[in-house]
Amino acid sequence: MQLKDSFDRTIDYVRIAVTDRCNLRCFYCMPMEGITYEPKAHLLTYEEITRLLSVLGKLGFKKVRFTGGEPFLRKDFVKLLDSTNELQMYDSIHITSNGTLLEKHIPKLKELGIKNINLSIDSLDEVRFKKITRRNDFTKVIRALNNLLDEGFNLKINAVVMFGVNTQDILPLAEFAKSHPVNIRFIEEMPFNGGYKKNAQIFKANDIYRIIKNEYPSLSARPKSHGETATNYQINEFKGDIGIIPAFSRTFCNTCNRLRITAKGEIKTCLYDGGVFSIRDFMRRGISDEELTTKFVELIKLKPMNGFEAEKSGKNTLGREVSMSSIGG
Ligand code: GTP
Ligand code: 5AD
Ligand code: SF4
Repeated sequence: MQLKDSFDRTIDYVRIAVTDRCNLRCFYCMPMEGITYEPKAHLLTYEEITRLLSVLGKLGFKKVRFTGGEPFLRKDFVKLLDSTNELQMYDSIHITSNGTLLEKHIPKLKELGIKNINLSIDSLDEVRFKKITRRNDFTKVIRALNNLLDEGFNLKINAVVMFGVNTQDILPLAEFAKSHPVNIRFIEEMPFNGGYKKNAQIFKANDIYRIIKNEYPSLSARPKSHGETATNYQINEFKGDIGIIPAFSRTFCNTCNRLRITAKGEIKTCLYDGGVFSIRDFMRRGISDEELTTKFVELIKLKPMNGFEAEKSGKNTLGREVSMSSIGG
């Protein structure tokens, strides 16, 4: 079956934040201090996540992404990957990670056939990496990156481009795709860091494009695949490719295929809404799978047309206490 929203978009991609905890402190995502993590009891349990994935699988969901926080901080994360794999309902299992804890799990990921990893790396310069993440994990992350490449994973690097912070990293990051089969994706910064600076200047997708095009005139767009947020480009003689994600400009909403579940079990039908329903509380009331299924169908019908509508709906909490680490990106 295929689940459609009220704008005839097929919704078949679920993103689950398995934890709100992170061992880095990227300033576009979290404030340096005063972070209040959810008590463990508020997070979805392993059983609850597996149940949700089973119900969504029956509703036609084909792609699942585990995010966080940092998903590998969760003790039962690998067990969760195992059980998701056993469900045999998803065409592909994806992980977005900061890479700090990943290395030792590579053999298990290979064993499970999980090949799609997105790593968040905003700079290839150690000093700037440290400034952005406020932690000293550059060497570990680069080691994980190289190992994943050696092992043939489908690797994407997510780099949030921040005005006045790391625009000088755009070309060195792009250059990395010359000799490595990796997708380097530049992302517009969004106002989710638990301490949003009002009127922050956003370095837009077009600005990023111009810098790369100027250096590599052969830069040319590839056709997009279903639900893709990035516009991908190839450059002559590059092994990898380049993506640009207009996350703030939101020019891809007309093909959106996603549903989000936050670490504490809130359903978000749009990244820019404030969380529309607590599926955790609903499940903890002891409802049946049928009721859960009906609820998802209902929620998906309420999915807004785009991120601007979601923001206008009045329920969003942009720029206040919301950190991307609890939403999962
Ligand atoms: P692929 O499945 O590999 O294409 O990855 P993805 O882009 O769906 O996921 P990822 O977790 O790597 O996110 C990359 C960036 O895109 C992050 O900054 C996300 O917050 C942003 N992003 C992902 N989904 C959406 C979305 O639905 N809307 C907006 N505005 N941004 C999104
Ligand atoms: N703006 C844009 N992207 C963000 N991410 C986290 N916070 C932000 C933000 N404020 C990205 C991370 C990660 C992905 C899940 O979301 O870099 O790669
Ligand atoms: Fe989908 Fe909302 Fe993201 Fe647009 S902003 S792509 S509607 S989640």
